[in-house]
Amino acid sequence: MRLLITGGAGFIGSNFIRYYLARHPEDSIVNLDKLTYAGNLENLAEVEGRPAYRFVKGDICDATLVVRLLAEERPQVVVHFAAESHVDRSILAPSPAFETNLHGTFTLLEAARQYKVERFVHISTDEVYGSLAEPLEADENFPLRPGSPYSAAKAGSDLLALSFYTTYGVPAVVTRASNNYGPYQFPEKFIPLMITNALENWPLPIYGDGRQVRDWLFVEDHCAAIEAVVERGRAGEIYNIGGNCSWENLSVAREILRLTGRPESLLASVVDRPGHDRRYALSSAKIERELGWTPRVEFAEGLARTIEWYRSHDGWVKRVKGGDYRLYYQQHYENREQTFSRL
Ligand code: NAD
Ligand code: TYD
Repeated sequence: MRLLITGGAGFIGSNFIRYYLARHPEDSIVNLDKLTYAGNLENLAEVEGRPAYRFVKGDICDATLVVRLLAEERPQVVVHFAAESHVDRSILAPSPAFETNLHGTFTLLEAARQYKVERFVHISTDEVYGSLAEPLEADENFPLRPGSPYSAAKAGSDLLALSFYTTYGVPAVVTRASNNYGPYQFPEKFIPLMITNALENWPLPIYGDGRQVRDWLFVEDHCAAIEAVVERGRAGEIYNIGGNCSWENLSVAREILRLTGRPESLLASVVDRPGHDRRYALSSAKIERELGWTPRVEFAEGLARTIEWYRSHDGWVKRVKGGDYRLYYQQHYENREQTFSRL
């Protein structure tokens, strides 16, 4: 089988390429990635040079390139990861999220329609459901109430993918995963930011009161779920993918300090994110029932493995946290610190 992966140089995409090629050595992958600040070919060093793998640098919004690539490669399957994936960046500057997440997805769907791709897996997020009050859990029919420019653009792209199934019969499947964590995640996201700051004895910036709830999914479990959807998912369907692992942010940060042997005095409350979703929670009953997938990696194990990975990849961390990252960090966190008597 031939697969076109978009955004394969990012966190989840690169984990998926390594995971998939290790388990399907007879298949081949073309990876289309623009190499934005979040794309890093170092993440794919393990597969570079293999005959079954080809990298193409390019933008999913470039219709000429996308059509040419489909004509050349004739992939049976597209797994579409490419996105502007960070909520805070989409708040600082929303335009790239709309361009890539919406226009880019549209460009790929048009090409998939023209070349009669057999499966189009659109990788999305539980954030499209917005913030849920306790004890609600979103199933796949839950209303969409995205709260950030990032999640609004993702929700729009989900609807586009499903409309291409309904209207043109493009065999699109939408997956909505909860917050991923694991090796190779860009340290703008919560868990790798907390780990790398803790390892460097820097403050850990906690938005607001830190009582917001996220469901954590180890990236390898997410890869296994996507593999199941590629192989057995039904066209026109949505599959939630959750880790069954709800934690308050502050508790996660405290656990990271404990596991890295750093003091709680590193916790710093900072001004909250505008429109910050309080709680995400989702039900994965459908994918468990239909495809037999279930998360396997417990949070304690996943977190320990993730910390160990960042500890033993300090060269990767230094390179990723240099240059533009510093500017982003300054722009985003400078003057943000506020004093709370206690967190
Ligand atoms: P990431 O930011 O680490 O990687 C995104 C990749 O897409 C990068 O390699 C980047 O260079 C590439 N890219 C961006 N714009 C592009 C464009 N216009 N053309 C081609 N390539 C482009 O993201 P991630 O965390 O790996 O997320 C991957 C997908 O999974 C996204 O669609 C995201 O919405 C979804 N998702 C992420 C999470 C999470 O916790 N990280 C959870 C659920 C769903
Ligand atoms: P993030 O990793 O950005 O994922 P998302 O907002 O898409 O869920 O953030 C996870 C949670 O951590 C979210 O509630 C915001 C919070 N957060 C902080 O408290 N401090 C930070 O520096 C960051 C990046 C996130």
